Amino acid sequence: MPNEHILHLQDVYKGYDGKVILRDIDLAISEGEFCSVVGPSGCGKSTLLRLILGQELPDSGSIHLEGKLIGTPDPRRGVVYQKYSLFPHMTVLQNVMLGPSYLGLDGKTSASKKEIEEKAMYYLKRVRLEHAAHKYPHELSGGMQQRAAIAQTLIVHPKILLMDEPFGALDPDTREQLQVFLLELWESMGLTILFITHSLEEACFVGSRLLALSQYYDSGDDKYLHGATIVEDHPLMRVAHSTEIKQNPQFQELIASVKSRAFDPSLRQHIHDFNLKHIDSFRTN
Ligand SMILES: Nc1ncnc2c1ncn2[C@@H]1O[C@H](COP(=O)(O)OP(=O)(O)OP(=O)(O)O)[C@@H](O)[C@H]1O
Ligand SMILES: [Mg+2]
Repeated sequence: MPNEHILHLQDVYKGYDGKVILRDIDLAISEGEFCSVVGPSGCGKSTLLRLILGQELPDSGSIHLEGKLIGTPDPRRGVVYQKYSLFPHMTVLQNVMLGPSYLGLDGKTSASKKEIEEKAMYYLKRVRLEHAAHKYPHELSGGMQQRAAIAQTLIVHPKILLMDEPFGALDPDTREQLQVFLLELWESMGLTILFITHSLEEACFVGSRLLALSQYYDSGDDKYLHGATIVEDHPLMRVAHSTEIKQNPQFQELIASVKSRAFDPSLRQHIHDFNLKHIDSFRTN
C-alpha cells in the first residue's frame, strides 16, 4: 500500500440516491502541503472532506491516511468548519482543553489538568488569543472564534488539518487577515492542510497547491450525470505573505483561468486536457 504520502485517495467514487457526486478522485498529499480546494457550489467539496474525515464511506475506491485505510473520525484529522466548532457554554480555554481531556496530551493518557491548561494557553498564544482565554465564544468576534477553533484542533496534533469554508462567514477585511494568519501558522508550525473554499481568490491566495473540483467537463458520458472530479491540480507559484499579490496581473490571470476551466458550465474541457501539473497529480483512468 502507498504510504509515502500522508493522504492518498485512489479511484474514489461517492453518490447519493443513485446520483454520482464525486467521480474517480485521485489525490496524494505529502506532509507539509497546504492544499486549497475550490469548486462550484454543490460540486461535492464538503462530501470530499467528510470522506477524508471518515464521517462517510466512499462507494468505491480507497482512502489511506499514513498508509492505513481510514476508519471513523479520530484526532489524526482535525477539522474546522465555517461556524459552530466551539461549544457555546464553555470558555475559550475550556474549549481548547477539551480534546486533550478526552484523548490525552502529547501521547500521554494521564496528563494533569494543569498540564493541559498550560498547553492550551500555549496554543492560544500561537493564535494570539491568550487575552481571551476566559471569554465565552459569543463574546468573541467571528475571526477570533475561528482562531480559537484552530487552536482547539491543533492541540491534539492532527496529521492533517481539514478546513471547510473556515473564513466563509467573516467580513472581507477579517477574512483577509485570517488568510495571512493561516499562512504564517502553516509555515511556522509545519502543518499539513486541506482547505476548502468556494472563493477563487481565496483558493489562489492561500496554500502551496491548488486543486479544483468540478462537474463541468467532458467525460464522454452523459454530461449531467457524471459527477465532479479533480480538473486542476498544480503548485501555486509562491507562498504569499502579503495580500498585495492579489492586485498582481498574474494572480488575476490565474483566477480567470481556473474560473473558466472549473466554473464555466459551457466550457467543457476533455478529461485529457485537465491541468494536472503537480508532481503528485495522477489519474488512474
Ligand atoms: N447526505 C446527503 N444526502 C443526499 N445528497 C447529499 C448529501 N450530502 C450532500 N448531498 C448532495 O451532494 C452534492 C454535493 O454536496 P456538498 O455539500 O458536498 O457540496 P459542496 O461543494 O460542499 O457545496 P457548497 O459549495 O454549497 O458548500 C449536492 O448536490 C448535495 O445536495
Ligand atoms: Mg460545502
